[in-house]
Parts: sequence; structure tokens; C-alpha cells
Amino acid sequence: MVSLTTNLASLTLSNPTILASGIMDEDAGSMKRILHGGAGAIVTKSIGMKPQEGYPNPTLVELEHGMLNAMGLPNPGIEAFGEELQSLKKVNAPIIGSIFGADISEFTALAKKMQDHGTHALELNMSCPHAKGYGVEIGSDAARVKTITAAVKNAVTIPIFVKLSPNLTDIVSIAKAAEQGGADGIVAINTVKAMKIDIELQMPVLANKRGGYSGSAIKPIGIRCVYDIFEQVDIPIIGVGGILTGKDALEYLMAGATAVQIGSGVYYHELTIFNNICQEMKQWMNAHGYSNIHEVIGVAHQ
Ligand code: DHB
Repeated sequence: MVSLTTNLASLTLSNPTILASGIMDEDAGSMKRILHGGAGAIVTKSIGMKPQEGYPNPTLVELEHGMLNAMGLPNPGIEAFGEELQSLKKVNAPIIGSIFGADISEFTALAKKMQDHGTHALELNMSCPHAKGYGVEIGSDAARVKTITAAVKNAVTIPIFVKLSPNLTDIVSIAKAAEQGGADGIVAINTVKAMKIDIELQMPVLANKRGGYSGSAIKPIGIRCVYDIFEQVDIPIIGVGGILTGKDALEYLMAGATAVQIGSGVYYHELTIFNNICQEMKQWMNAHGYSNIHEVIGVAHQ
């Protein structure tokens, strides 16, 4: 019997597949559907202090090898989202609350409120590629990553994971800063900053011009980041970027990930993707003499 049960800090996941932030995770109903599809845990949409509409359309375009989006952090704000979380109290999988803030006081206030609303862990979004004053502007500064992580760690008792951007010259040094700040895990990677131009209109397709690229095309970038972080950081890594199959998930585990997140894959392969990935992982592990996913983590480091 192959076991896919995995631990992330104090969380126990029945399997290592987690819904990535930003996909079907703004309301309780769709989050329940994702869990029904077999996800081992869920990350919520990134939530800020106040309700925010996001950028005008177009915000999302499908390209040949992935998707490009710039939503602009649309979210209902922490107060309204707290009510949404009430009806998730009875689900038996971990809910990881994603938060974004402009500074230490916003991050700590949001972290406390998420914890009060019952989330089991936090994901600090320090990697949105295009939101001015948020995201990668913070996540590219090791000192800020460390102080914000430390302040949040001090403010809550639930585990905190820090989500990092591939749009950095040195993701490893930022991962180390998060670890030094007391993070319980690193999430790598967020989307890759990119653009699509409509040559007939002779202008960028997205209203925001620049967006974040996701899907199969970014998997090798995510694998490289996870591999490099694993060599220098001791806390668990959650791998994300272009995972569509069980073999993609295994590749991330071999690079050093303890769990994986799936975002665009839900669009390409629907809700059954979580169960399908787990079945494929089990089959592969069985055929290769592995009985526990902890035996696979990091094996590509030889
Ligand atoms: C958005 C995009 C991101 O990559 C992210 O981390 C958070 C928010 C967005 O456009 O809403």
C-alpha cells in the first residue's frame, strides 16, 4: 500500500495536492467542490484589508503553453471573507489563508484575523508580479521578507508559509530570509512576469499590460527554484508551477518539495485533477518500489 499522507509543520494532509491561491477559492461553495475533487488542502484567494475590485478586463488570456493573468488582487476584504470561512469550519482538510499587505502592520492584522476566522495556516503572498506596493516589491527585499515574516510569526500560533516569486535574481537568498524570520515553509513559485501583444490591435492584450504566466511552460522554472532552495534551506517547500499530472508532482517532490499546489491545472483538467494526480503518483511509486512519499522527497539531489 502506497501512502500519500504528508505533514507540513503541524498540518497533516491526506495527500500532497493543494489548491493554489487564486483559483475557485473566493467563496466557500467552490472551495468545498475542490475538496470533493480530492485536494489535500486549500489555499484561499489572497485577501487584503479592504474590498478591492481589481483591474478592468481583459484580466486573463489563454496562450499556447499556459495562461497569462493580471487580476489586480480582487477580493472581498478580510471582514467579508471571514464570513465566507465560517461555512468551511466543518471541512476536514487544512484551509490555508493567503494574505497580502503593504507593510508589517497590514500583514500582522490580516494574519491575526485569518487565524481568528479559523484558518489552519497562512500563506504570505510576497510575490504578486504586478501589484504596486505589494507582492514582489516586498518579496524581492530580503530584509523586509525577514522582518514581516518574523512579525507575523510572533502574532499567530498557526504555521506560516511564504510564497516567493521566480522573478528574482536570487530566490534562494529570499527563501533564507523567510526561514530566518521563522517561516514554517516556502511556497515556490508564483507566476512568471510576462506579456502578450495582439499584433492586429498593436497593443498588449491585458488591460494591465503585464501579467503573470502560469501552466506547463513554467514547470522547469519552478523545478529549478525548488531544487536550489532545497539545497540551502531546511524548512519544507511547497512546489507550484505547471503541475498537471502525477509525474509532474513527482518531479517537484524529487526536486525537494514536500507538497505541491495546483492552479492552472484545475482549468485544464477540471476538478478531478487532484484525484487523478494522486492515483498516478501511487501507480508510479508502486511500480518503483516506494511506499511513502517521504522516500521520494529530494531524491534528485545526489
Ligand atoms: C494576483 C496575481 C498573483 O500572481 C498573485 O500572487 C496575487 C494576485 C492577481 O492578479 O490578482
